[in-house]
Amino acid sequence: MKKGLLGMMTAAAMTAAMVLSGCSGSQTAATTAAPAGETKTEAAKTEAAKTEAPKTEEKKDLLVVGFSQVGAESDWRTANTESMKSTFTEANGYKLIFDDAQQKQENQLKAVRNFIQQDVDYIVIAPVTETGWDTVLQEAKDAGIPVIIVDRMIDVSDDSLYTAWVGSNFLQEGYDAVAWLGDYLKKNNRSDDDINIVTLQGTIGSSAQIGRTDGVEEKMKDYPKWKMLERQTGEFTQAKGQEVMESFLKTYQDIDVVIAENDNMAFGAIDAIKAAGKTCGPKGDIIIISFDAVAAAFDSMIAGDMNVSVECNPLHGPRVAEIIQKLEKGESVDKIAYVQEGVYPADTAAQEKPKRAY
Ligand code: AHR
Repeated sequence: MKKGLLGMMTAAAMTAAMVLSGCSGSQTAATTAAPAGETKTEAAKTEAAKTEAPKTEEKKDLLVVGFSQVGAESDWRTANTESMKSTFTEANGYKLIFDDAQQKQENQLKAVRNFIQQDVDYIVIAPVTETGWDTVLQEAKDAGIPVIIVDRMIDVSDDSLYTAWVGSNFLQEGYDAVAWLGDYLKKNNRSDDDINIVTLQGTIGSSAQIGRTDGVEEKMKDYPKWKMLERQTGEFTQAKGQEVMESFLKTYQDIDVVIAENDNMAFGAIDAIKAAGKTCGPKGDIIIISFDAVAAAFDSMIAGDMNVSVECNPLHGPRVAEIIQKLEKGESVDKIAYVQEGVYPADTAAQEKPKRAY
């Protein structure tokens, strides 16, 4: 690690640790009594000197964290950005340099190089895609700056190029979606039906897309009556999700299930389905399976439009901060840490919504 072992702990790190642990620092209150043996005049002079002397300011030497964010493509991403920004505050002992890559890896590479130039204490990356990171992460390593990967994963030849990763098990999310559909069809006496599926994929090459697509594909093999008619990317946005769904609806008359690899694309798909004069949700023609479980997905389920949302938890700010604090203390951290996530079907949405934090 670059600067952070306990013996070398910066004032900023100590401040951060104190803020997190609720300590109030080590400054003592200035005394106003004259030291014994001094005359009143001397005491007054001492007092005046104390008043005039510059106050010992707590060093505003914050831990500098450069965060390269994917973009602002979805409700999930907004919640993730908010979690990072509300965690890495000056009050918590950090200076956050935030960069929005607008869903382009080239922007992320530029941002990381800027962070290296600015000699930040930590680089945090939510990577757009998995590949293409080796060179820039080698540069960060050469500069002695620890890199923490959050949310999506990276695919690098040398694992020492990053210190830790925390995020979702996207493959498991894909498995969960198939398990839910299998149970749902069984409950509705449709296990023997031919089931036609279309998928709105996320950004191609992102872990969220790869894991969900692969998870569904793998587990679908257990259901020979299910057919994947087509997969196309909707780039994790509502507008593109709607556009792709419109084209699916023109091509296929008999879609039974839409798998949208995030909630925002599902919202777009639902708009397209309604505009085409079809219905969706538990009482409709088309089953909608989604991922993320953001607040608006619960509204959609309560409204009867969406069938299920498989959770992807975006509240990574405190998780990344915990990793940084451990590193600052010279403690070891898990190289890979998966977040626990649930599956939220429409029939539980009304009771679950009030408990949701995003
Ligand atoms: O990487 C997490 C995915 O990215 C979320 O499912 C999606 O909404 C976001 O854009």
